[in-house]
Amino acid sequence: MTANRHTPFPNGRRQRIFVTRALPGSPESRLGPEFEVVRRDTLDVPGDAAADADALICVLADTIDAALLERLPLLRVLSSVSVGLDHVDLAAATAAGILVGHTPGVLVETTADLAFGLLLAAARRIAEGDRMVRAGAWQGGFALDAHLGRDVHGATLGIVGLGAIGQAVARRAAGFGMRVLGWSRGPQQVQGVERVGLDALLARSDFVSVHVALTPTTRGLIDARAIARMPRHAILVNTARGGIVDEAALADALRSGRIAGAGLDVFAQEPLPANSLLCALENVVLTPHIGSATVATRARMAEVAVANAVAGLRGERLPHCANPDVYASRAFAERSQRARNTSGDTT
Ligand code: DGY
Repeated sequence: MTANRHTPFPNGRRQRIFVTRALPGSPESRLGPEFEVVRRDTLDVPGDAAADADALICVLADTIDAALLERLPLLRVLSSVSVGLDHVDLAAATAAGILVGHTPGVLVETTADLAFGLLLAAARRIAEGDRMVRAGAWQGGFALDAHLGRDVHGATLGIVGLGAIGQAVARRAAGFGMRVLGWSRGPQQVQGVERVGLDALLARSDFVSVHVALTPTTRGLIDARAIARMPRHAILVNTARGGIVDEAALADALRSGRIAGAGLDVFAQEPLPANSLLCALENVVLTPHIGSATVATRARMAEVAVANAVAGLRGERLPHCANPDVYASRAFAERSQRARNTSGDTT
């Protein structure tokens, strides 16, 4: 076989890209003949086809831990079709000399749309109303005192995390004439957003929307103590990661009326077990982690993930690399050498 001009292994071994899911738009189908693409829906089989993968394209439902990485001696690029990387042991990947790619940017507006949708749905009790109508429980027709919710326009929104998605939510809030408070560990000053401390944000907001990444410092950030600071009429929205909110404390607060409602797209355990306390509550809107789930955005995410994998295997910079220090590391050089040796090319 003639090596492609980009293929670093002139002996003809095609580098293998292992893909754990069918990718929207199938961008990987355009990779032949330069690369061999292998798709399996699981990484859980020891000694499986992933073992000699040069790149791995995964999703956030795949747990990429140190033990798995040890089984992948040739892997140089791990490319997740997600912006969040809490399913990846980033420290282990970095120490092992593996580049980690992700998909920031392309899902910002789509995720902000869903956050705002959940906010509206919870405030105006839309899902609850839908259930009632379908169940034939809408009796007596229009009533002045039935199914009353909260106004979104003119209310105060607190945004926890002023990164790209938090800022996109702030733009939507401006269109609704909301006052916007923001808290972030970073220094961002965002036009139209009043920066306040987290406690002040929780105490002053009618709606709180969570947009921080899940890290050891944000795990459990919205715990019982934080929830207790919110006004009783407050509504909490989480489209970031389930682990940021203490679900048991939230369920307790929703059941007791400590806060009025919630809109949740993400959960500590996904899928959310049907016997979760949250499923029994009327005042929470639940969606199945669909923040980025539009046709166009998922296709863009897949394109970026493939571009990351391809760039890494061609010896180019990943368009979106979460651990760029790897490029200069000895472990990366050793891994690249091992991959070349495996192909028989030791030059
Ligand atoms: C991500 O990419 O991290 C989202 O949670 C899913 O698209």
